[in-house]
Amino acid sequence: MGIWPQYSTIVALTVAYCALFRFFAVTAKKLMDKKLDILRSKIEEAQKGGGDKRIESQHKKGKLTARERLHFLLDEGSFEEIGMLVTHRAVDFGLEKELYLGDGVVTGYGTINDRLVYVFSQDFTVFGGSLSETHAEKICRIMDLAMENGAPVIGLNDSGGARIQEGVVSLGGYADIFYRNTLASGVIPQISAIMGPCAGGAVYSPAITDFILMVENTSYMFVTGPNVVKTVTHEEVTSEELGGASTHSTKSGVTHFACANEIECINNIKQLLSYVPSNCEDTPPHVEYTPANEKRPKLNTIIPQNPNQPYDIREVIEEVIDTESFFEVHKAFAENIVVGFARIGGRSIGIIANQPAHLAGVLDIHASTKAARFVRFCDSFNVPILVFEDVPGFLPGTDQEWNAIITNGAKLLYAFSEATVPRITVITRKAYGGAYDVMNSKHIGADMNFAWPSAEIAVMGAKGAAEIIFKKEIASAKDPAAKLSEKEKEYTDLFANPYKAAARGYVDEVINPEETRIKLMKAFTMLENKAVKLPRKKHGNIPL
Ligand code: HXC
Repeated sequence: MGIWPQYSTIVALTVAYCALFRFFAVTAKKLMDKKLDILRSKIEEAQKGGGDKRIESQHKKGKLTARERLHFLLDEGSFEEIGMLVTHRAVDFGLEKELYLGDGVVTGYGTINDRLVYVFSQDFTVFGGSLSETHAEKICRIMDLAMENGAPVIGLNDSGGARIQEGVVSLGGYADIFYRNTLASGVIPQISAIMGPCAGGAVYSPAITDFILMVENTSYMFVTGPNVVKTVTHEEVTSEELGGASTHSTKSGVTHFACANEIECINNIKQLLSYVPSNCEDTPPHVEYTPANEKRPKLNTIIPQNPNQPYDIREVIEEVIDTESFFEVHKAFAENIVVGFARIGGRSIGIIANQPAHLAGVLDIHASTKAARFVRFCDSFNVPILVFEDVPGFLPGTDQEWNAIITNGAKLLYAFSEATVPRITVITRKAYGGAYDVMNSKHIGADMNFAWPSAEIAVMGAKGAAEIIFKKEIASAKDPAAKLSEKEKEYTDLFANPYKAAARGYVDEVINPEETRIKLMKAFTMLENKAVKLPRKKHGNIPL
């Protein structure tokens, strides 16, 4: 006998236990498989949005779906969706029977070039991408996460506006988003791509964000559409004319980028992000830079002999910055000023440059607001500022005065004055009148101010100055024309140079143009740890 019966009992029990365990495991797996099937079919359902027919119609319009857009935007395999199974809560108009998983917006996070971003992408195939209570909640959740974790929010907008069946609940949802847009302003970069309709109050969320990109021929933005316009003002206008990409990139300046297609739009978002940090506490990403011969002799050949002859300031920009690093913002709007991001020695900078090739580079209302907004973005996100100055002054005329060039010009003055990032100015030619003060002069806080020998720093152009201060002398002269040109020369000899300003220290150094890049690289390095605090205040009151 001994221990044998006990041993066989143990063996029998073990075998039974294993069989039972296997049975439970198999049953549990079968159960889990069934549950996984349900999950899989829900995921599949969610990914279909409003269904194959509506996806086909989206493609026929030349538009990608919400998910396809995210696929192209984010690093492969990096997207994690949040709220895929959310459905709306509406019960009016039979809506309780029409439920779509995700409720018309795909939200989540992922990476772009390995940097974390939060995204929402509206799905036009579900109720035309319209915004319901839950749709808004999903977007708000993404924005809250982005704020808490200090990463940019990118919104891909394609929506018929407020979900009409939900009434005020939908309007409340919009307001929840507007509020968050405002709180996030200056904390994290916010980028809006408009890839379909964007109408009514829905335009105000993108308008609060930092940059708007639109796709030509498939997107539009307006507060009231063509039908309302016709009823109220009797104007006949198409959606494209009223609020298409070309209108907003040239006439209104609402959009910063007009893109030929959705892929170009997505690529522009990626490029834009490469110049900016993830939040206001962060610094912009540096890129590898191999030093080379930094002298640029071409810079000595760009300024025309005749001071009234135009030249393209982009030629100067291209020579000074790292090769092909200029990313122009607001290219087709207020072309008398050029703004955009670039790199110098691998560092991100924001460039603001008068453009002599357009309206002689004069400052007007649009140029002032365009530049002011860009300066404020750079300052919010620690992007150093470089100014190229060749400006004959502010644009005269009733149109400008009656439309408040005073208030609008003051925006630029204010924006430069309060910017605490490193700020450098290069005066290439004219720095006349009030515009001299406004364009990042030393007096309003520029750190370094360089001038080329071709600089003319004066209250106004020599002819205008001579006409005013020698008015009587010219009028009483035997040959007034000869007298005028004599006095004009006198004024030119005295003031049309950078040396009076340099003698006062308003210009730090008069430099050989071909050495501009070298000087700038050294100066930006010298200013890298700049720390300046503004006086304590709740917030300033920029002249809006
Ligand atoms: C609910 C909507 C919708 C909306 C479109 N749909 N807009 N559902 N609420 N706002 C639905 C349609 O019923 C349709 O459903 C599908 O989306 C596609 O719409 P279509 O009209 O067939 O597409 P299309 O011809 O391309 O025209 C798109 C459109 C048009 C121009 C956006 O749908 C439209 O004008 N919609 C209304 C726009 C609007 O007035 N919104 C309110 C703005 S006021 P099916 O089932 O057929 O696929 C606003 C207030 C915001 O937004 C306030 C914030 C302060």
